[in-house]
Amino acid sequence: MLRRHVPENLAAFRRWYADPEIARLARYQEAPMRPEEIDRFFEARVVGTEALAMAIHEAATDRLVGTCAFSQLDADNGSALYHITIGEKDVWGRGYGTEATQLMVDHAFGTLGLHRVALYVFEFNERAVRAYQRCGFVIEGRSRESIWRDGRWWDELGMSIIESDWRRARAARADEAAEQEALETDAARADDAAEEDDVAVRGAATGLLRRTIRRWR
Ligand SMILES: CC(C)(COP(=O)(O)OP(=O)(O)OC[C@H]1O[C@@H](n2cnc3c(N)ncnc32)[C@H](O)[C@@H]1OP(=O)(O)O)[C@@H](O)C(=O)NCCC(=O)NCCS
Repeated sequence: MLRRHVPENLAAFRRWYADPEIARLARYQEAPMRPEEIDRFFEARVVGTEALAMAIHEAATDRLVGTCAFSQLDADNGSALYHITIGEKDVWGRGYGTEATQLMVDHAFGTLGLHRVALYVFEFNERAVRAYQRCGFVIEGRSRESIWRDGRWWDELGMSIIESDWRRARAARADEAAEQEALETDAARADDAAEEDDVAVRGAATGLLRRTIRRWR
């Protein structure tokens, strides 16, 4: 579930952004943010007006697990930059990043009326690249050997999704959902028919039993 951030979420940000593993995956600098940087970032780009940030909550438990945002909203060209951090590492790989990204993409094109959403990701962050691709982002370019990490150079990938990609993917999803619904309706009809047969069989058995009892009387 996506919700607006509240000031109390700062404690979670202080923990998430002090984590070296998160810094390694998402930051240009190798070291994590300093506490005062995290506080400034939170003020300006999470609860402030410099970005449209949303808190990611696990629906079943309501637990705050991460944050996602659009920054650099450009009204003239209908574009924005996308960012996401699932800060609670124990829930990585459970589909939350993909689902939150899909919700943000739907919001961008379906509600905000944007034309293009872009993002940057380090090529070694395969989990992120995969999640973005699942939501329809495509790799549109790479800044060659622009990140020095783990003792070697890596490319930074530029990815984007444009409104027509989203519309096509949404139509395909709707077709898939309709097909699934038709299959489920067929299965339900078959179940009903089986149940009717079952009732008829039971009815016949009861009739037989009654006739048998009558014969024995
Ligand atoms: C990147 C991030 C948002 C992804 O969210 P997530 O909830 O962990 O990821 P999801 O479970 O939605 O999807 C991960 C996908 O990558 C795949 N994956 C998981 N681990 C992987 C790995 N080590 N290598 C390659 N693919 C992997 C999963 O199978 C899944 O793909 P699938 O749906 O086709 O099976 C999250 O891990 C995160 O915030 N990481 C730290 C910060 C970060 O990297 N932010 C992005 C900076 S650009």
